[in-house]
Order: sequence, then C-alpha cells, then structure tokens
Amino acid sequence: MTSASKAAIAESLSEARERTLELVEPLDDEQRNRVYSPILSPLAWDLGHIANFEELWLVRTIADREPMHGDLGRFYDAIENPRKTRGELPILRDAELRSYMADVRERTLEVLDSVDVSSDAEDPLLRDGFVYEMLLAHEYQHNETMLQLLQMVDGYQPLLPIGTRAVVGTGPEMVAVPAGSYEIGAPEGGFAYDNERRRHPVELAGFEIDRTAVTNSSYLEFMEQTGAEPPMYWERDGQGGWLSTARGARAPIAPDHPVVHVSWNQADAFARWAGKRLPSEQEWEAAQAQLDSVGQVWEWTSSDFLPYPGFEAFPYSEYSEVFFGSEHQVLRGSSWATHPRVVRPSFRNWDLAERSQIFAGIRCARDA
Ligand code: AVJ
Ligand code: FE
Repeated sequence: MTSASKAAIAESLSEARERTLELVEPLDDEQRNRVYSPILSPLAWDLGHIANFEELWLVRTIADREPMHGDLGRFYDAIENPRKTRGELPILRDAELRSYMADVRERTLEVLDSVDVSSDAEDPLLRDGFVYEMLLAHEYQHNETMLQLLQMVDGYQPLLPIGTRAVVGTGPEMVAVPAGSYEIGAPEGGFAYDNERRRHPVELAGFEIDRTAVTNSSYLEFMEQTGAEPPMYWERDGQGGWLSTARGARAPIAPDHPVVHVSWNQADAFARWAGKRLPSEQEWEAAQAQLDSVGQVWEWTSSDFLPYPGFEAFPYSEYSEVFFGSEHQVLRGSSWATHPRVVRPSFRNWDLAERSQIFAGIRCARDA
C-alpha cells in the first residue's frame, strides 16, 4: 500500500468517527450515560469501547505504546463486562470521554504514518491494512448497536435518515435454487472476520426461498390467527390496530414494510405457520445473489453459530470463538442500520434466539 492509501485509511477512519458522533449529537450527556435496557450498553460505554478498541489495536498492539489510562481498558472488555453491568462501571464520561476519543485518534494517525501497510508487510495484522479494516468494521458495527439503543430514546431525532422502506415484490413469491455444490465463506485476501473462513464447498439439496422479506401485514395475519406475540415496539392503538413506539413515537405500522424486531423464536414460528421453514445460512448464502429486498432487515436462519471447517481465530478469539455453539443463531444480510462497509455475502451476525432488539426480520424457505 502506498502513502496515498494511508491517506485513504485516515479518511475512512475520520468518516466512521463522524458518523459515530452524528448519532449521539442530538443527545445530552445525561442521555449518553443513561441505562435504557439491561440488554444494551449505555451510549457512553459504546463510545469509550470504540476508542479503547482503537487504542488497543492501532496504538498499543501495532506500535507497542503504553495505554493512556492504565488498566481502564478492562471496563471496556465486552466479555468481562456483560451489558447489564455496564452502566455501573467507572468508565469515562462527558468531557473526559470526548478528549479520550480525540487523543486516541491523534495517536492512531501518528502510528499510521510509521507503519508498513503494504501487501508485503510481514505482520498479517498490517498486511493490506487488515487491522484498519477491522477497526472500521468494528466502529460501524457499534454504530448499529447504538442505533438499537437509540430506538429506546424518547423523542430521538436522528440527523441521518433511518428506518425501513416498503418491500417491492416482483415476480413469483419464491425463487428455486437447484441442488448442487456451493462455495460458502469469504475468499482469501481482503478483509473478512475469522468466522467467515475458510471458504469451503457445501452440498445443498434443491430448495425454494422467498423473494422478499416478510412484511408487517403478513406478520399481523400470523398474530391474528395464532395469538403470537407482536414484534418489539408494537403497541395496540385501542382501535384494533397497532402502532410503533420506537423512539417514543406513536406511528402507524406500515403494512408493506418488512417486519422488524422479531426474535428467532417468532421468526421460526412464523415460517412454520406459513408452511415453510427458515433457510440454513448456507442456503441463504447460496441464494443471495437472486434475492430481492436484502439489506433492510437482518434475516434469521435455522443455523447455530458454528465454526467452518479449518477455522482459525484471527486476530482475537473473543470476536467469534467464544460465541460458537448452539446458544446463538446466525443472521444473514444486513439492515437499514448497517453501514455498507460491513455488508458482505459471507458476513455472519448472531444473537440469542429470544432477542428482538436487533433489526431482524424473516425470510422463509422450503424444500424443493
Ligand atoms: C457481530 C454484532 C454479534 O456485538 O457482539 C462488536 C459485533 N464484536 N464488538 C457483537 C462486535 C465486538 C458483535 N456482533
Ligand atoms: Fe466491540
């Protein structure tokens, strides 16, 4: 990589930071520190964690510098500190938090100047700028988590456009995907998380998959017929209809938008009710080139979050490895809240089957 692409890295880092700060710009310090939910961090924790993760990888790991705040980093460790405890931690707040974010960034740019990020770099962390891509992905992924929390902030008026759009369906309801061998996972080279590798062939039986994501009106029909629970942030309007209460608004549910904020349990029950099933993540990846309306809501799959054959943790085992097992279900695609830089056909998201705070919806499949 040339010095011109170092400039591109610096530019990308600053774009990501602008977006992070734009998200919290409408809020005061009290709102940034407030605990809104035991399953989501206060925004101040996300902000400090974003900066601390940057300090850890872009300053301490690659340039061997001392941490700026001693062992403060242990409070920003996501594994050591479950979300429900983060409001109580002695984390940085207010002006101190703002200057920490800026000071880390200053060091990051100093270090960037001095490292080799070319394709011949010896350190796989630096080669082709891998660790910088990881940082960008991390900050943007936390932007999405922050947007989940921002759904709980009454009267939040974002500076950025947010929310779903109508689902536009064209052609038949389902697409047929022929039986065959499909390559699953991220190819060598370029940035991807460890859990997307190695790319490997998978034999699939023929199946069909919905062309579009399930809409609010279909989900309503399912609720009416089965008594199923509504998605998160739905409330009765008192006249037989439903309202969305996200961000403290009371807005009518748009029938033609994709349903969002459903748990895996709700998605699975919907699919069975429809005479279908959830796709496996391999089916989803094999079909995704032919799918409409990808990118508005994450899509639950029937797959547990498990390592691919030949998995190797890189660069740290706490990103993926500690989450592998039958407790977490894989989601595929992306949502309206996902920055394009995070979106890849091979990207794997995951959460617990009962969770619905994420921007997750449903797409169904069935055997051919
Ligand atoms: C991929 C969204 C499940 O939030 O635990 C952020 C992303 N990992 N920092 C998570 C992540 C480390 C991760 N998810
Ligand atoms: Fe993180």
